[in-house]
Amino acid sequence: MNVALYNQPLSSLNADLTIECVTTAQFEVHPLKALLTQAGFKAEAEQLCTLHEHRLLVCAITDESSETYRCVMTSALKTAMNYGYASLKVAITQASLNSLVEGALLGTYKFESYKSDPKNSPLKEILFANDSGADFSTLESLFNQSVTIAKATNFVRDLVNQTPYDMTPQAMAVVADSLASSNNLECTILDVNGLESEGMNAMLAVGRASINPPRLIHLTYKPANPKKIITLVGKGLTYDSGGLSLKAAASMVTMKMDKAGGCAVMGIIKAVSELKLDIEVHAFVGAVENMIGGNAYKPDDVLRAKNGKTIEVRNTDAEGRLVLADVLGYAQENVKADYIFDYATLTGACMVALGPYTTGVMGHNESLKQEWLNAAEVSGEYCGNLPFNRHLKKLIKSDLADVCNVSSKPYGGAITAALFLDNFIDEDMKQKWVHFDIAGSAYTESAWDVHTYGGTGAGVRMSLNWLMENCK
Ligand code: BES
Ligand code: ZN
Ligand code: ZN
Repeated sequence: MNVALYNQPLSSLNADLTIECVTTAQFEVHPLKALLTQAGFKAEAEQLCTLHEHRLLVCAITDESSETYRCVMTSALKTAMNYGYASLKVAITQASLNSLVEGALLGTYKFESYKSDPKNSPLKEILFANDSGADFSTLESLFNQSVTIAKATNFVRDLVNQTPYDMTPQAMAVVADSLASSNNLECTILDVNGLESEGMNAMLAVGRASINPPRLIHLTYKPANPKKIITLVGKGLTYDSGGLSLKAAASMVTMKMDKAGGCAVMGIIKAVSELKLDIEVHAFVGAVENMIGGNAYKPDDVLRAKNGKTIEVRNTDAEGRLVLADVLGYAQENVKADYIFDYATLTGACMVALGPYTTGVMGHNESLKQEWLNAAEVSGEYCGNLPFNRHLKKLIKSDLADVCNVSSKPYGGAITAALFLDNFIDEDMKQKWVHFDIAGSAYTESAWDVHTYGGTGAGVRMSLNWLMENCK
């Protein structure tokens, strides 16, 4: 589907259907009020009404928030697609532009690679009109920015949605390599030998029972005069069976999405490079498959991580933190960054704490976390702060090793997982680190907001927003 912006009034554009958002007040004085009322339209929240003879789809908006525009645009487009319209037009303002573009590009996303007979959408193009005569060059650059970020989000969704058979750690490395070629990035891949010589024993242990060997991916975007250096680390579990602490059958389904953090950091660096931001970005992905087998790592094992700390394994399903321990260590050793952010579908407990739509935000730096909560809100992602405390930290003490990979109590699991990661954050980076638990937000089996079935691309929009606001 094509989207395009025109510096013309809406009425001068040719399309099969016009989408019009009306507030309650606008409805009162609408020229088609009688007809709309007859059709049962009352301008109530989320109500849509199609007047085919007028080639008009009217959407009620009760406020002018981005969230409302996003959701309304998404349902308007779904409706228009059901009716089989091929082209649509809609008026935009500087305030509604981003939401309308996201509604269009994210809200109509469909992953059909595994369908033998994909239903091609009738909808071919959406025309956006600068109807109120706003400064066009400003609108144009905002429009291009929104399109780039939305496309990067869909790139992440495409990766997450691929099966564990197709998207193995090696396949993720191939994706990283081709992203590097197309976007002029540097790309370094470590295979098992490389991981062994780096002493990344925790990551290696997790991947040991799989026939698909692990890969560490390092992508770099280096502009000429960077304002900041940012390290991004992603959990890339291409499948999480739980290992010997095997997941129950029902909980294993959807665990192809356990690579969503790794996919997100690739999507973020893709957008950063396409927007040519003056920020040096390093994206690290720990791509691993957690399986069972005669050589699997075990509960009772003790692993020595890259930074020298020892870890008592009491549950092989708490594998993401083991992979991150080593990747965080490697990233900090190789890049002296201003900030380090990690993205991981780390704990079911995060969903218990915040619900299935919200990313958990954890770290030591309260004002930095607040910047992220703001960035998330502006960008249309949900984030919630999960606070550390000294008592929770004691729950991952080990009698045998330096730290244990699971908590001794069944509550606060998202936070104790982050406190585990804290053991692998260098002293000078403590205030520069934020951890994002995207276990709930990265994947959905029922549509919500601009998200359709499957990967959501969680992390991409909020990160671009944070980077553009805070690395000027
Ligand atoms: N990948 C899972 C977390 C997860 C669960 C993500 C559900 C998305 C949806 C992670 O590796 C895991 O299994 N965590 C365990 C930790 C426990 C053993 C301490 C969990 O959440 O149950
Ligand atoms: Zn697990
Ligand atoms: Zn996992």
